[in-house]
Amino acid sequence: MRPLIIAANWKMNTTPADAGELAAIIAARTEEPGVTRVICPPYVCLAAVRDALAGTNVAVGAQNVHHELAGAYTGEISAAALAGLATWVILGHSERRRDAMESDELIGKKLARAISSGLRPILCVGELLAERESGRAVEVVANQLRGALAGKDVEALINGGFVIAYEPVWAIGTGRTASSADAAAMAEAIRSTLAEDLGWGKSAELVPVLYGGSVTSANIGEFLAEHSIDGGLVGGASLKPDEMAGMVARAAITAMARAAAEGKPV
Ligand code: 13P
Repeated sequence: MRPLIIAANWKMNTTPADAGELAAIIAARTEEPGVTRVICPPYVCLAAVRDALAGTNVAVGAQNVHHELAGAYTGEISAAALAGLATWVILGHSERRRDAMESDELIGKKLARAISSGLRPILCVGELLAERESGRAVEVVANQLRGALAGKDVEALINGGFVIAYEPVWAIGTGRTASSADAAAMAEAIRSTLAEDLGWGKSAELVPVLYGGSVTSANIGEFLAEHSIDGGLVGGASLKPDEMAGMVARAAITAMARAAAEGKPV
């Protein structure tokens, strides 16, 4: 059974002065069985969030990492620098593809670095509106996956807890979501790209696929009702404790239902 995950991407919001308090409130309001919770604040807030979450089982994630271990890379942060601060990392977010020109090849290098450094990666993929409207969404996402994952050590990725987030670019921060049927179809296409094109075989079934893009407590239920979707990567709504409480509570219901369907305890 794949884990149910609610991951908060705080993007360029919060400061070291307020991030810890927000994280502590969210942790206290989202104590539900069966749901893996992750909070990804800006780099400079990682220490405050880590301290605030000590004693909870909410994980801390970074929003990026450099692919080299150290060196002359002004303004960058290495995996070694994240040790003790974060255990997860978001990679290839569309905002980094757009603003930092991150290519699939570069994202693949970051992925390898994350895995070899013990950081659990969430690889983001997703198409632009024009690509969806021209019927090329699956092809674009499959190309992103091939570009980042070709030649990677599948066993290391699976053992490292590799997660994929499908985030259609046009749904991010717009209040417009993909339909749950389209998101589920993409999650299936993602797993079949892994299984067939990339030769992962049955291991593809072990990879959690999250949906991201204007997820809220009001709409997350539609996505979680789809068996191919294993949670959400949430931006704006993840800064609101009430929203996080609602989303995690809804995910806990799904976790219980899925465990019951498989005859397993949560
Ligand atoms: P929103 O939830 O604000 O649309 O952002 C989604 C996202 O980009 C999460 O990584």
